[in-house]
Amino acid sequence: MQDIIRKLEQKRAAAHLGGGQPRIDKQHQKGKLTARERIELLLDPGTFEEWDMFVEHRCSDFGMGGETIPGDGVVTGYGTVNGRVVFVFSQDFTVFGGSLSEAHAEKICKIMDHAMKVGAPVVGLNDSGGARIQEGVASLGGYADVFQRNVLASGVVPQISLIMGPCAGGAVYSPAMTDFIFMVKDSSYMFVTGPDVVKTVTHEEVTHEELGGALTHSTKSGVADRAFEDDVEALAMLRRFINYLPANNRVAPPHRPTPDKADRAEPSLDTLIPNSPSKSYDMKELILKIVDDTDFFEIQPEHAKNIIVGFARMEGYPVGIVANQPLVLAGCLDIRSAIKAARFVRFCDAFNFPILTFVDVPGFMPGTAQEYGGIIKHGAKLLYAYAEATVPKITLITRKAYGGAYDVMASKHLRGDVNIAWPTAEIAVMGPKGAVEIIFREERGNEERLAELTEEYRSKFANPFIAGRRGFIDDVISPRFTRQRICRSLAMLRNKKLENPWRKHGNIPL
Ligand code: HXC
Repeated sequence: MQDIIRKLEQKRAAAHLGGGQPRIDKQHQKGKLTARERIELLLDPGTFEEWDMFVEHRCSDFGMGGETIPGDGVVTGYGTVNGRVVFVFSQDFTVFGGSLSEAHAEKICKIMDHAMKVGAPVVGLNDSGGARIQEGVASLGGYADVFQRNVLASGVVPQISLIMGPCAGGAVYSPAMTDFIFMVKDSSYMFVTGPDVVKTVTHEEVTHEELGGALTHSTKSGVADRAFEDDVEALAMLRRFINYLPANNRVAPPHRPTPDKADRAEPSLDTLIPNSPSKSYDMKELILKIVDDTDFFEIQPEHAKNIIVGFARMEGYPVGIVANQPLVLAGCLDIRSAIKAARFVRFCDAFNFPILTFVDVPGFMPGTAQEYGGIIKHGAKLLYAYAEATVPKITLITRKAYGGAYDVMASKHLRGDVNIAWPTAEIAVMGPKGAVEIIFREERGNEERLAELTEEYRSKFANPFIAGRRGFIDDVISPRFTRQRICRSLAMLRNKKLENPWRKHGNIPL
């Protein structure tokens, strides 16, 4: 018996050593942790249950027959994050560059199938050179098996990808189908084809970092939702993020008690809106002042900054927040912001997060760049997402809500449950200046008269009471009581039930 146990320990030790000490050292020299070290930081201490440690690849081509390493380049299993079960796979770059073989893919598929069965999130820690080149089509098939599960799990259990090394070729498409992608600065990158192929095909000279680094994807492309400094920060933030998420689409996000009182007044909000309508202010100030403990987990903070999206809690209950940001492009909706917010709204709706929408939007961004880029179709994504959402929807208009953007931003007409406004709200077809220039075209050139008419239009329409008269706004509130009003509304809506008509699926304008 002793002998058998010793053999087991030897096998475990071999698996733990992955591709060997020199490769582990190389990984550390790059500032990266190993696959197992990452799992240790992600999960609660001592909770990791590993599966398939003894799985090996079945390839015998290109000298691979004698080259087997137990586990085959990916560590899989489950454990807990703050006591809640999550399934995890962590690719081991020290074993054949973390490349995906048929066996490696089967291990990932196994934990995904179990996550679906028990209703728990899947976390992927990606660090892989892509398809195992020696295996050819077998590894391509393995990728497709993972992709299929990504799609079936979408909207059923939360799926999160942390990119902690290279992620090239087909390897980017599994993360792309998960709900959130986080990257590590300087050590991770994602691209469909690397710089060498880019140079051959398009003659562009570009570095790995410029083409697909964490900064590129968290600012320019919007592929990544956050970029973190290093592995340790990324894993700590991932733990914090998981605390917001429900285990699956059939349960509510987890409540966390807070000492922050629901009726806390915030007098400073009374002066947040500047006197001049053309002056901006920071919408994040409003968010931080009304959420529990000033705790806001922002998604895509550096991309399409004219809209803010992220998670927070109100009275301990997680909520999704969508807010126009007047500091950037005056808070206009454009292609990038519409796509960013639409995807976020759909995640919230799929996973039972009430949506708080803070509106200060002068309209859709005009111009050829936007029209040629398809703002009509992309703007419609946000409209569609809000209209289809059945979770509680609470909307606060702080200042401008003009034109189509008024309709889009969770208006009463899109089944907004509670729609409130600050006294500073201006709800109209367009801003007073633009409106007067169109209605009184004959006065063009007469600046004095135009100013007079603009003022008249402003005092008549640039307020919340016309919408209030029709019931499009349920109440006009003092800014200082915003938190209290929202907490009460959320409590009232906690058992909301609303279903859309049966259909196979809708046809969101993609
Ligand atoms: C097998 C691989 C591998 C792969 C890396 N390795 N990628 N083995 N298949 N795809 C091995 C290397 O041979 C090396 O083995 C070890 O991993 C570390 O790789 P290095 O090149 O030394 O590391 P580094 O310099 O950090 O470069 C990492 C890298 C590079 C950028 C990922 O290895 C690389 O470009 N690999 C190929 C990427 C690629 O083209 N993949 C296929 C994508 S196509 P030793 O023994 O020396 O340690 C694809 C199709 C999927 O994925 C389609 C699905 C739809």
